[in-house]
This record gives sequence, C-alpha cells and structure tokens, in this order.
Amino acid sequence: TPRTKPPSTLEMMRIVYRNPLELWGEHTYNEPWISVTGIGGPLVIANDPGLIRHVLIDNAKNYKMATVRQLILRPILRDGLLTAEGEVWKRSRKAMAPVFTPRHIFGFAEPMLKRTLEFVTRYEAGGVADIAHDMTLLTYDILAETLFSGEIAGEQGSFAREIDRLFETMGRVDPLDLLRAPEWLPRLTRIRGRKTMAYFRNIVAGTVRMREERMKRDPGGVPQDFLTLLLRAEGPDGLTRAEVEDNIITFIGAGHETTARALGWTIYCLAEAPWERDKVEQEIDAVLARESDPTKWLDAMPFTRAAFEEALRLYPPAPSINREPIEPETWNGLDIPKYAAVLVMPWVVHRHRKLWDRPEAFMPERFHPENRDRIDRFQYLPFGAGPRVCIGASFAMQEAIIALAILLSRFRFDATSETRPWPVQKLTTQPQGGLPMQVSRRA
Ligand code: HEM
Repeated sequence: TPRTKPPSTLEMMRIVYRNPLELWGEHTYNEPWISVTGIGGPLVIANDPGLIRHVLIDNAKNYKMATVRQLILRPILRDGLLTAEGEVWKRSRKAMAPVFTPRHIFGFAEPMLKRTLEFVTRYEAGGVADIAHDMTLLTYDILAETLFSGEIAGEQGSFAREIDRLFETMGRVDPLDLLRAPEWLPRLTRIRGRKTMAYFRNIVAGTVRMREERMKRDPGGVPQDFLTLLLRAEGPDGLTRAEVEDNIITFIGAGHETTARALGWTIYCLAEAPWERDKVEQEIDAVLARESDPTKWLDAMPFTRAAFEEALRLYPPAPSINREPIEPETWNGLDIPKYAAVLVMPWVVHRHRKLWDRPEAFMPERFHPENRDRIDRFQYLPFGAGPRVCIGASFAMQEAIIALAILLSRFRFDATSETRPWPVQKLTTQPQGGLPMQVSRRA
C-alpha cells in the first residue's frame, strides 16, 4: 500500500525553500505512487512503471502539460514544440520529424567537433575551473553552430549573455505559478524579463529574415543547420513563421542547459569513481587512435556512453515530467482527480528501491551492452517517453559523446569539493555552488 501521509504544509514549505528535491526524498523511493493534496492542489507522483506508461502513452490523450509548467514556460517558448498543445503540437511534431533524422544528426557531428576543439584550448594552462559553468558555454557554442552556423542578426557575445539573462529571470519558478494563480496576475519574474524577451525575440526574427534572404540569393550555398531545416518545414501543413521563431528559442531552452548539466555531472561522477574513469579514458584513447569520423564514436564507445547514461540516471537534467488529466480517472485503485498535477519524476524513479540495485551508487555497468536489456523502458526516463519524448535525444547523445571524447582524451578533471544537486528556482538539476574542478593535462 502506498504511503500517502505527506509532510505537514509548514514542513513542506520549509523543505521546498531548502531544496525541493528533498521533498521527494527517501520517503518516496519505495512507493508505487504518492497522492497528496499539496500547496497548489492535488498532487500525484507516479513511480510504478505501469502507471508511468499509462500516463505517458496508453492514456496520453487524457493528459495535457501541467498548468504550472505552462505558466512558467509558455511566456518564453510560446508555441514551440515543448509548450505547444493539441493540434498545434501534432502538426509541429510531424513537420519537425525530418529535422531530426539520423542523416541530419550525423551532419551536425563535424560542427560539434569543431566547436569542442576550439573550446578546450582554454584548459591548456590547467588550474581550477567551474565545469558546470563551462559546459553551459560549450553547449551554447555547439548550439550557436548547429542552429544558425554563428550567423545572427546582432553581436554574438551579447546574444549569449541575453539568453542567460532570459532564462535566469523568466525561467524561474514564481510562487504565483506554484499556486496556479491565473495568468493575468502579474508575475515579478515576467516583469523583470520583459525587456530581455523583447531584445531576444527581435534578434531571432532578424536572424530568420537574414537567412531567408540568403536562401533566396544563394539556395545552393546555405548551411544545413537547424535554421535552414526549420525554414524548409514552413508551409500550410508545416510550421508558421512565428512557430519557426518559437522553436529556435525552444531548441535553445530545451537543448542548452540540459546537455550542459548532463556533461557536467558525468565528468563529476567519473572523477569520484577513478576506476570507471580509467575504463572510459582507455576506450576513448583507443577509438580516437583508429577512428577519426565523429559520427562513429557513439557506437564505438559503449563504456563512455554507459557512464553518460548512468550520470543521466543519477542526475537527470529534467528532474520532473509534469502532466495534468483532462478528465478525472482511476488507475488500479488510484484516484487521479481533475486538476491534479501528475508528476513522473525521473529523479525519484531513478532512485526507486524496488527498481534499482544500490540506486545511490554510480555504476555504469548497468548500461553496458550485456546488461541494458534488463532495464524496463519505464524505469529510466531521462528523455521522457511516449509521443512527447525528447525530440533532441539523439542530437544530445551524439553531442555528449563527442564532447566527452575530446575533453577526457586531453584533460583530467578532479573535484576540488563535494557538491549536491540544487534545482531551486531553476528547471534543471543544478549542482549547488557549481562544479569547481582541478583540470590537468593528461600525460
Ligand atoms: C522534450 C530531456 C536535449 C529538444 C524533452 C523531455 C525531456 C527532455 C525529459 C520530455 C518533456 C515532457 O514530456 O514533458 C532532455 C535532456 C536532454 C535534452 C535530458 C539532454 C541531455 C534536447 C536537445 C533538444 C531538445 C539537444 C533540441 C535540440 C526538446 C524538445 C522537446 C523535448 C523540442 C519537446 C518535445 C515534444 O513535446 O514533442 N526533453 N532533452 N532536447 N526536448 Fe529534450
């Protein structure tokens, strides 16, 4: 029987203030589900793989994106794929499927490699670096190259700074959102972000216009980046111009911090488990010595991939996938009322005592080729599942392996202090105080 006794409201508020992940800590790790009435209304945390499958796939039609998530993200991402609903989402997902085919993802491998090689020169002198911060710069560089090949209608440096500011201000969880207060009530976070948002939208619109002119002028010479591919997806059954712009911002929002967090946590976990790091380093050295084509690295490096996947298990960058039922329903005796926030929390599912052996331990062998079949599709969800599964997952996997191959073949990273996850006011699983690490050149 699931334990449904929640902490008291006061206790809950104290924990949320300290670190919301603790609210879903030890007392949730054994339960198939938790059903409570929280600060913002009824709340169901779905841990049972069958229930997760029910919510994300079998009865996905009865679920929309949770109100809180939409209140936070829609003002920034509008009708981008992550926040679109209903027919707009259906049409956009179909129109964007060709953008993410293996042919295009492979085409991004060289730009990913080029930007990573430029990036790592900063470590030549050694010293202590905040790897969490640095990975955010690296994944931004890679996105700038794969999104618009560095061609933007404005100065590069200020664009990168404004992106940070935009998600710093508007991407924060406002207390009014947690209470699901109506949209018309002004949020401080939105008011603070208004100017940045206008600047940002302006640059994106200008960049799209610039590219469109280039496509007309020189159709054979345009870069095959996301921007060109999105513009080709424009049309009566495809994307509108506004949706092209919304999706550029969505790719930055959904594909920048997430991959950065995943890379940072992988490097940190490997530093804490040097015996695993040895295996990964040996594998990378051997593959780089014989294979120069970066599109082949993902398949050729099963240990490196396993270390990355295990870090995604322990520190899923998206700690919670949030839904809300359109109609109330019952699943195996569990009542899911209307307006309930239904949370599939990779953070909790990945630590569930009944699903994982020694869940707190960093054990990449779980994902070695001979073991990975034992992992249920619905117990490992870093990229979600079902119709709304991450469309950028294969892009992110390729990017991560290329970045790890270059970083770890040249440098060694050692933690200078312990860290703990701290998602407060941010949407991704952040390390508290960053990830300061000693960087040294490998012999
Ligand atoms: C959706 C995680 C990288 C674009 C999602 C979802 C998760 C996720 C959990 C599902 C959200 C839900 O069901 O509510 C991650 C992680 C990443 C990553 C952990 C990196 C390690 C990327 C990249 C891109 C991207 C690189 C784009 C270039 C998207 C989009 C959606 C999405 C557009 C919405 C899909 C839809 O609703 O149809 N991601 N993501 N993601 N992701 Fe990713």
